[in-house]
Amino acid sequence: MPNILLVGNGAREHAIAEAVMRSSQNPRLFSFMKANNPGIASLSEKIKIGSYSDLDAITAFAKENKIDFAVIGPEDPLNNGVVDALAKSGISAVGPTKNLARLETSKSFTRNLVNKYNILGNPQYKVFTSMDGVEVFLNKLEGIVLKPDGLTGGKGVLVQGDHFSIKEEALKLCEQILSGGSSLIVEEKFDGEEFSLQCLCDGKTVVGTPLVQDHKRRFDGDRGPNTGGMGSFSLPDHSMPFLKSSDIEAGLEITRQVAAALLKETGIPYKGVMYGGFIATKDGVKLLEYNARFGDPEAMNILPLLKTDFVEICKHIIDGTLDKLKIEFEHKATVCKYVVPKGYGLPADHPDAASSKAKIEVGNVGKARLYYSSVDKKDDGLYLSSSRAIGIVGIADTLEEARNITSEGVKAVKGHVDYREDIGTDALIQKRIDHMSKIRKE
Ligand code: GLY
Repeated sequence: MPNILLVGNGAREHAIAEAVMRSSQNPRLFSFMKANNPGIASLSEKIKIGSYSDLDAITAFAKENKIDFAVIGPEDPLNNGVVDALAKSGISAVGPTKNLARLETSKSFTRNLVNKYNILGNPQYKVFTSMDGVEVFLNKLEGIVLKPDGLTGGKGVLVQGDHFSIKEEALKLCEQILSGGSSLIVEEKFDGEEFSLQCLCDGKTVVGTPLVQDHKRRFDGDRGPNTGGMGSFSLPDHSMPFLKSSDIEAGLEITRQVAAALLKETGIPYKGVMYGGFIATKDGVKLLEYNARFGDPEAMNILPLLKTDFVEICKHIIDGTLDKLKIEFEHKATVCKYVVPKGYGLPADHPDAASSKAKIEVGNVGKARLYYSSVDKKDDGLYLSSSRAIGIVGIADTLEEARNITSEGVKAVKGHVDYREDIGTDALIQKRIDHMSKIRKE
């Protein structure tokens, strides 16, 4: 009967909490959240609300509840060093130390690591701490991507064609990033199709999970501003229809080599999730970025499909024995859609922005699963709290069935909310397939 601490309060953590509580080991869940997620709270024996930078409060909560191990959901507490703080009290965690979490928290660290160990997948890139040489490097690139070197909540990356058009605009944005105190990474832009490969890692062994495609843009047809992710889908064969099996193997091999490089570089085994954001291009699979955690929404696609006991997986990650465990997922399709405030992702002066903290009602979601994210449960009901509110997930033998379950489920959330209609539709997936065929000149 292990006592497990979960840190995090989003839909990803709601899905983790559910996976923990499905375990046959009768776990007791203790959750540290920065806001009360009613879904996580309902699965937890005890909750504590606090700040993810208050490491003393997290550690005290863990000690007081005799925690056997912790699972860390989001990047912020990882960046704050929660795994290191828990380790000082003898508590192990699924999640990397602060040093290893640089895989996500420092884009330059990861690019330089991949470069140093001659691992495939990097773009042409350069890291700048001043404007010296920026223009010369921009002139060498056909398409440009600009990244501040830190956590940006998935929204800080600036891509030519989406956020700016000409070099002069890029130069201004570079100046802005540098004047904000962060270093700047300038990269070559890739053309291709993106996929999320979330791998489990115990420091030595890397285990892939079903591939997922996230949809970052706010509106149907991949229009509008980038968001944390409006929804995602996965398929029964655990692949994506625009990928070759060699693409998946390439993503896995890059991740295996990065895990080995991290161990060599730091001497510390990476225990947690290495979520690679990859892109299939005409020249093969390239690495966009790593995250040091499950994806949100992608966790909602894969965790409900786990056939293997999640608590057992966590124990093997912590013990460094993942090679001894067979990890299996159901061969089903999943479609996840985020229900968001209508004003989500829109400028603060947009008329819909005012409603981003409005009250909502949640009815019967039918066969769909519901994962709470940014909601605020008050005495008189449930309120939006500005960001992605509720993840609705359909799971079925076919994509069509999964999509229908999700489409019915999202209608149960009433209020000033919105969601994308087109996630997991045949038309959107065909667009991806056609795009990839064109790139590969098939
Ligand atoms: N799906 C994007 C993220 O989790 O960062």
